[in-house]
Amino acid sequence: MNLPNLARTSAFRLTLLYMTLFGASVLVLLGFISWSTIALIERQTDETIEAEIRGLAEQYRGRGLLRLVDVIHERSADHADQDNVYLLTDPKLGPIAGNLTHWPARTDAGGWVQLSLTKRENGESIAHHIRARTFALPGGYRLLVGRDTNEKDKFRAIVNEAVNWSLALTFGFGLIGGVFISRRMLSRVDRISTTARGIIAGDLARRIEISGSDDEFDRLAENLNAMLDQIERLMTGMRLATDSIAHDLRGPLTRLKGRVEMALRCPPEKGQDREALADVLAQTDAALVVFDTLLKIATAEARTDPADLEPVDIASLASDAAEFYEPVAEEKGIALDVDTDGPARIRGQPQLLAQAIANLLDNAVKHTPAGGRITVTIGNRGDGVDLAVADTGPGIPEADRERVLERFVRLEESRSSPGAGLGLSLVAAVAKLHDATVRLDDNDPGLRISLRFPADPDTEGGNGAAPGTKDRLR
Ligand SMILES: Nc1ncnc2c1ncn2[C@@H]1O[C@H](COP(=O)(O)OP(=O)(O)OP(=O)(O)O)[C@@H](O)[C@H]1O
Ligand SMILES: [Mg+2]
Repeated sequence: MNLPNLARTSAFRLTLLYMTLFGASVLVLLGFISWSTIALIERQTDETIEAEIRGLAEQYRGRGLLRLVDVIHERSADHADQDNVYLLTDPKLGPIAGNLTHWPARTDAGGWVQLSLTKRENGESIAHHIRARTFALPGGYRLLVGRDTNEKDKFRAIVNEAVNWSLALTFGFGLIGGVFISRRMLSRVDRISTTARGIIAGDLARRIEISGSDDEFDRLAENLNAMLDQIERLMTGMRLATDSIAHDLRGPLTRLKGRVEMALRCPPEKGQDREALADVLAQTDAALVVFDTLLKIATAEARTDPADLEPVDIASLASDAAEFYEPVAEEKGIALDVDTDGPARIRGQPQLLAQAIANLLDNAVKHTPAGGRITVTIGNRGDGVDLAVADTGPGIPEADRERVLERFVRLEESRSSPGAGLGLSLVAAVAKLHDATVRLDDNDPGLRISLRFPADPDTEGGNGAAPGTKDRLR
């Protein structure tokens, strides 16, 4: 990280801006203090001069010019206050009394004047400024009464020094602070850039480090990491979907091709051709179903925006699905019950939820022997909604209960029955989309699959208006 880079950071530029503003305010503040203090000192100087003049005037009025000469002699000789300046001259400007050597050039008597003189102090010539008032006395005599303003000059020098120091310190500390803050910011940004480059280079699992200071960089890192997680999830879902589609359509399509080739090799015969076509149609249908299911799983796993979820009454979805499976169950001699305690509202995607319930019922009907029973239970549990499909079939051994939720997993016993091993994968994906949990339990005998959905937060007055409704479909 070099200095030109540092100077280009917005932190550094901001620091410079603050530094300038701070410097300007220091200048204004000290300027104001200086101006008001100097004004006060000037006022005090003038008041002292006026008081001095009043004293001299009193003496002059009472006892005449000679007394004035005496008093000026006395006061000029007073070593305690060397700041006062006096001069009394004759009409030809020859000094009569006072501590000033000559009448200032180009100065008439009457009014205020500013004088500059050099005094010798400790062997050095030092310039002094004098503020004085001049008077013309009767007979052409002139009087000058003034005061050295070196106090004001000293104060001005102190203020100037303070301004210089303040500016130097402001800019010095500002520069050090600016470099320090910019270095910190640049190092955080550099870390994010390094991670981004790593991800671009193909390491999709990399994430931005969180410093734990909970600052804006941590929040940015958290959001970027969440975005990367989502992208990774979508990409994994897409890759799995394409892998699965490629893998599972290979079988049906190869069989389809074989069937068509066989039909073409045989001499045309109307009956056989029709049989071959019907076969081809059935296999195409099977391939399309697999294709369709894989796409649905990919959609569910893509975890769409929560805003896309709508209020759904899962009890009515389950009743509709059960009604649809009712004829098949009846044909197999299976009883199908729906047990609800009124509407059970959640936020969800109705089509995917309906498909998941249908898959559970499809499995139950497929595996339950004649004389068995399937029960669909929907129950409101306060903080959520339970949906369970229980059957009296062979069930699933505990060791296989997790595995059957994976794609294309079919247990040995079901290999002879039609199916792709995707039904429960879709159920699991739909459950995940709805933040629901899936449990597989022993129904003793049979299997009981239950899903627990979080309740719809917007449901007013809660679910389950009519408890105890029991739909018996057969
Ligand atoms: N109700 C059930 N009783 C017993 N075994 C079941 C039951 N439901 C599912 N299984 C077992 O779990 C496996 C996976 O079920 P899944 O629904 O995923 O696939 P499938 O039913 O074989 O095929 P598909 O649903 O894609 O047509 C099934 O092959 C079966 O072995
Ligand atoms: Mg199934």
